Amino acid sequence: MGNQQADLAWRETDLGQVPISTRFDDPYYSLDNGLSETNHVFIQGNDLPTRFKNNLHIAELGFGTGLNFLATVQAWQSAGKPGTLTFTSFEGYPLNTDQATAALKAFPDLRPQTAPLLTIWEDAMQGPATYAPGITLHVITGDVRNTLPAWADTADAWFLDGFSPAKNPDMWEPALMQAVADHTAPNGTLATYTAAGHVRRALADAGFEITRTPGFGRKRHMTRGVKAA
Ligand SMILES: C[S@@+](CC[C@H](N)C(=O)[O-])C[C@H]1O[C@@H](n2cnc3c(N)ncnc32)[C@H](O)[C@@H]1O
Repeated sequence: MGNQQADLAWRETDLGQVPISTRFDDPYYSLDNGLSETNHVFIQGNDLPTRFKNNLHIAELGFGTGLNFLATVQAWQSAGKPGTLTFTSFEGYPLNTDQATAALKAFPDLRPQTAPLLTIWEDAMQGPATYAPGITLHVITGDVRNTLPAWADTADAWFLDGFSPAKNPDMWEPALMQAVADHTAPNGTLATYTAAGHVRRALADAGFEITRTPGFGRKRHMTRGVKAA
């Protein structure tokens, strides 16, 4: 697939203009309240910020607009814990800086966190980049089905944020869920907004203890997982 650009359409919502992927016909985040959904699903779904500690490594499938990264940084900074945070995200169709700038205008609460991200946006796609003292961001570009198996690291917490399994099945294949498990530290966790049965089964088969918990907004359920030690 090579590195390809994101193709976006813009939809007017209460948040302002929000980006929709024309390739996948799916929005990048909840049209109702993207930041609240991120906090509910990915941050609390991984028991963060309770598990914040020195040398924490969070990884994500699907960097998109960087919203999940920014929400994580906001939580990390307000927790005020010393130490380092590494955030690695896998992205096949990166937005360019102009697209990211436009997309992140919908989140005025994240403005202080957004400016430094836009400064390093391109650099973080070339290799690990320093976002702020103690916070490193690396966006690994290319098809995650190739890049994740080749990754030499593990994460303490995973955000599984591909487009919906119906529209983006490549991001939820059993082999990829196995690669996530293979790159999870002992007792590491995952969270995702989807509760699709085939995704839950693939994650369980890969070695996660899976639970279905209340979803955000109109979504009844989401999925959490803990890697058996
Ligand atoms: C729901 S969006 C991610 C939203 C993002 N976490 C955010 O905070 O804005 C899903 C992302 O997965 C990416 N994606 C889709 N298929 C992929 C693949 N095979 N490999 C890597 N990334 C892929 C899309 O380009 C898109 O950016």
